[in-house]
Amino acid sequence: MVVSRGNPAARLMVVGEGPGAQEDASGFPFVGRAGQLLDQMMASVSIDTNRDAYICNVVKCRPPENRKPTAKEMAACLPWLLEQVELVQPEVILLAGATAVEGVLGIRGGITRLRGQWQQWQGRWCLPIFHPSYLLRNPSRQTGSPKWHTWQDLKEVKRRLDQPGG
Ligand code: URA
Repeated sequence: MVVSRGNPAARLMVVGEGPGAQEDASGFPFVGRAGQLLDQMMASVSIDTNRDAYICNVVKCRPPENRKPTAKEMAACLPWLLEQVELVQPEVILLAGATAVEGVLGIRGGITRLRGQWQQWQGRWCLPIFHPSYLLRNPSRQTGSPKWHTWQDLKEVKRRLDQPGG
């Protein structure tokens, strides 16, 4: 089981898809290459992932061969995520990638369309972003690239967190 890393009193929660090999081996989410990129991008907007965020996943166990978690697996794990939200009480939740968006909001497909669009879930601000693994495969930082959009999204998150009352 990979439950979380970071600060359980944080105002920001990051929800990914599910643990990969390194996460499975260490017991902590987002510690592999995707996690390192997440940390770097968050640091660029002055968010320290272990101090300022609580990081977790929709599914808590590694799907075999890194396949996408099934709808049934995501539904089975959802009550645990809801408990995590209750315990942490985040003001802002980032949903990393289409699978997290599907598992949490029940909206399928179209991360390109959904990213950067604030949603409400569990009475909290929720923002879909590109998954950092996708950004590893699309490393361009040019204006309009996925990485550039993610940076805009993270700046927007930072702006919201810096507003009094979220
Ligand atoms: N990808 C995810 O979605 N979650 C992790 O914890 C690691 C990689």
